[in-house]
Amino acid sequence: MSSSPWYQTAIFYELYVRAFQDSNGDGHGDLRGVIERMDYLANLGIDCIWLLPTYPSPLVDDGYDIADYYNVHPDYGDLQDYRDLIEAAHARGIRVIADLVMNHTSDQHPWFQASRRRVEPFTDFYVWSDTDEKYSDARIIFLDTESSNWAWDELRGQYYWHRFYSQQPDLNFDNPAVQQEMLDIARFWLDMGLDGFRADAVPYLFEREGTNCENLPETHAYLKRLRAFVDAHYPQALLLCEANQWPEDVRAYFGGDPNDPAAPGDEFHMCFHFPVMPRLYMALRRGDRSPVVQIMERTPAIPPNCQWCTFLRNHDELTLEMVTEVERQWMWTQYAPEPRMRLNLGIRRRLAPLLDNDRRKIELMNSLLFTLPGAPILYYGDEIGMGDNIWLPDRMGVRTPMQWDDSANAGFSSANKTYAPVIDDPVFGYQRVNVAAQQADPDSLYHVIRRFITVYKAQPALALGELRFLEHPNPSLLGFERVYNDQRLLCLHNLSDSPIELSTPAAHDLLTGADLPPGSLTLPPYGHRWLALSAPDATRQRAQRTVR
Ligand code: BGC
Repeated sequence: MSSSPWYQTAIFYELYVRAFQDSNGDGHGDLRGVIERMDYLANLGIDCIWLLPTYPSPLVDDGYDIADYYNVHPDYGDLQDYRDLIEAAHARGIRVIADLVMNHTSDQHPWFQASRRRVEPFTDFYVWSDTDEKYSDARIIFLDTESSNWAWDELRGQYYWHRFYSQQPDLNFDNPAVQQEMLDIARFWLDMGLDGFRADAVPYLFEREGTNCENLPETHAYLKRLRAFVDAHYPQALLLCEANQWPEDVRAYFGGDPNDPAAPGDEFHMCFHFPVMPRLYMALRRGDRSPVVQIMERTPAIPPNCQWCTFLRNHDELTLEMVTEVERQWMWTQYAPEPRMRLNLGIRRRLAPLLDNDRRKIELMNSLLFTLPGAPILYYGDEIGMGDNIWLPDRMGVRTPMQWDDSANAGFSSANKTYAPVIDDPVFGYQRVNVAAQQADPDSLYHVIRRFITVYKAQPALALGELRFLEHPNPSLLGFERVYNDQRLLCLHNLSDSPIELSTPAAHDLLTGADLPPGSLTLPPYGHRWLALSAPDATRQRAQRTVR
């Protein structure tokens, strides 16, 4: 596509191994199952798989509580399966990254068990204290389950620090041995052929009194050290940062020099853009582009070797941490009318149910995902509009088995009982919503997403272009140009249920293949268009606001 680093133009696919394909009939998806389905991913056209944690774990936090960094959970297979998965992906030109959870381990990890007993060298591997009053400015993240970031350990006779579940003690990054362990772990997986990491929960690595214990200078310094290590030994590897923070705070995770736009980033290659996500939903429900325009205008420029990562949904609740209290209440009213749909500061629903299963809205939101700046990440199952099950605990309702066909267990497993029930309701049930049916139907959502992917790959401006918002009197028109070298794309989105008339120059419709003469164009309710502009045009004058 271009000479830019691979991750700048890549399309990602977030894959929950337990949910994808069960190869041995035990009711749990596994690594061999993913290998069996690799052709599906290749056909879809994605460039990189992000594997949710597959390490041995008591699964209190579904694998984000790691008990052994150097192995695979037996439900998923073994290290050889892992190697084979990477090989199968690479054979199809697909890269694989995986979660690296640095901030904490499981309380079942041997380090923690040894630390509880003050066995060296593990005594100071975790953050211990005689009081539970330190670091009181740090917020609690899992608000629905935890009332403190400290938990008492009877054996050691001290409190330990944890930002997530109390079964996930935070590692002590002030300890040089802990810092080294993480580099060793990274080396192990990268040596195996993994293409990088989605680095989990990185803002919280260090704690300092009198701060909120997020985004501390010490944390950035360590992350730069991780990056230098990766660059030195694995120059193609990707570090993707999960920091659910405001854009100006996330900017720091790219590193480089904020005052010199040409200076390369030296921390993370990519960061998720969390705040834009809820604003896409806000803009749609209000029929008003301003939340999206405002957050993009508030988004600082990033170093030339970096890229944002954008998403509509993921394996967690749709987080409302990066909105105001008033906006959060509004979002809950709009998108989570049942209390059961809410979790912590978010909404535990999937994309299609959030959007009333309205194909126009689902396509519109995906169109925004593919046309706004940032590399898109698809969450498994959203490409076919899968539903959720809000009655399952924690976030399991958005982690149900992939729906492959209308056979028993949706073609996911031959077991009598699967790790979680397959969605079986009249609207989203596997009998109606499944890959096989959608592959056979040229008008299906699956084929629309596939088309988005194909066009995205052929149009470098979508990945690399500057963003220029269109000024238009109708607030429901979310239109912008993406400009890269001599390529100019005009992306139009109608956030309302009324048609919008607008005049456009001569253009080529990238999604339908039609050539459009200059003139008037009607954008239907919730419609979207991707237009390649052939010549300097009138929209240029109207596109006044330039971002990035
Ligand atoms: C992950 C969550 C997990 C948490 C703690 C998050 O950022 O996305 O699924 O519960 O980190 O590891």
